[in-house]
Amino acid sequence: MTTATHPYDALMDITARPKAVFVRGAGSYLWDDGRKRYLDFVQGWAVNCLGHSPPAIADALAAQAKRLLTPSPAFYNEPSLKLAQALVENSAFDQVFFANSGAEANEGAIKLARKYGSLHKGGAFEIISFEGGFHGRTLATMSASGKKAFEPLFEPKVSGFKKAKLNDIASVEKLINANTVAVMLEPIQGESGVWPATDQFLRELRALTQAHGLLLIFDEIQTGMGRTGKLFHHEHAGIAPDIMTLGKGIGGGVPLAALLASERASCFEHGDQGGTFNGNPIMCAAGLAVLEEVSKPDFLKSVTETGLLLESELQKVSARHGLGGVRGRGLLLALDLKLSIAPGIVAQAFEAGVLLNAPQLDTLRFMPALNVTRAEIAEMIDCLDGILTKAGAARRVA
Ligand SMILES: Cc1ncc(COP(=O)(O)O)c(C=O)c1O
Repeated sequence: MTTATHPYDALMDITARPKAVFVRGAGSYLWDDGRKRYLDFVQGWAVNCLGHSPPAIADALAAQAKRLLTPSPAFYNEPSLKLAQALVENSAFDQVFFANSGAEANEGAIKLARKYGSLHKGGAFEIISFEGGFHGRTLATMSASGKKAFEPLFEPKVSGFKKAKLNDIASVEKLINANTVAVMLEPIQGESGVWPATDQFLRELRALTQAHGLLLIFDEIQTGMGRTGKLFHHEHAGIAPDIMTLGKGIGGGVPLAALLASERASCFEHGDQGGTFNGNPIMCAAGLAVLEEVSKPDFLKSVTETGLLLESELQKVSARHGLGGVRGRGLLLALDLKLSIAPGIVAQAFEAGVLLNAPQLDTLRFMPALNVTRAEIAEMIDCLDGILTKAGAARRVA
């Protein structure tokens, strides 16, 4: 046994992390072990939709923890029944399977589509997904993803995924053959830099998949639970997919995800799907607290208004510093910097006590709590403005 020389060394080194250790969070703010405060516009990658440690979730978790942690996934429990019922009542879907991560929910969606193909489409198994898409880090979800950096990793991949181009319906149509069972996409490609599918493209996809008897799978792990101003993003386009996955925001900070399906698509049989912690009462209790808050019409209206404010403030920043456009919807937005300076800006913002994210070298992504305040937006914009002013001055000197 080797002894780790520092507590950091006992964790597998899977990504570059700043050395700060976070010990507390409240709303839009986080504190590290040196008591430094950070304004958080990452929120666990669009996870903490109600901000850090909101009382509604903390209370629900504490109450459920005292009552029942886990009976077994082979028994029913109250919070999972209530949350499944509430999701069905608030969506176009008929049944729910709970998972513990977005990747696991997507893995379930892929299995469900293949099951549908074996039952109803003569064994069809191919899924058309999209260049630039991101669906998780299991082998099948990496294979479904269209992330370039994944291509050389962990070969051989799971076969049966063909990649079309977002917002290009002909590129999808071209890939359909007798083996095709489904089309799978994120309505806004988050990890690749906030690239939205147009509402028109989503409607075309619905029509095309219906015409060919294919399932349409929406990965709403980043866009769902109010993030774009509707409870689910597909509502913007006025369509309903056959299968939808949720993650991140549904647990508001705890590991919960879900696979939802229409009656037609919900075809798992006993033994096809399951898992020790799936639908456990404690995470579902948190999910119920989140859904109760997020599904309120006034809450969603305020996400839209706050999103428009953030968008217009980012556009002003862009105009002041000669940057590119602002993309996205609601409170999932990106600023195109036109230069590969995003990681440097994220590092400077961190020093200044503001957490930002750079999904690409030239792109900043903003995914604050859905209840972020105007004052917190102003504080973030002020910090970003200052950093960009300094960066501009440095470029002029150079
Ligand atoms: C659209 C989308 N799908 C799937 C995932 C994977 O979710 P998880 O990291 O919970 O497995 C993510 C995570 O970033 C995501 O953004």
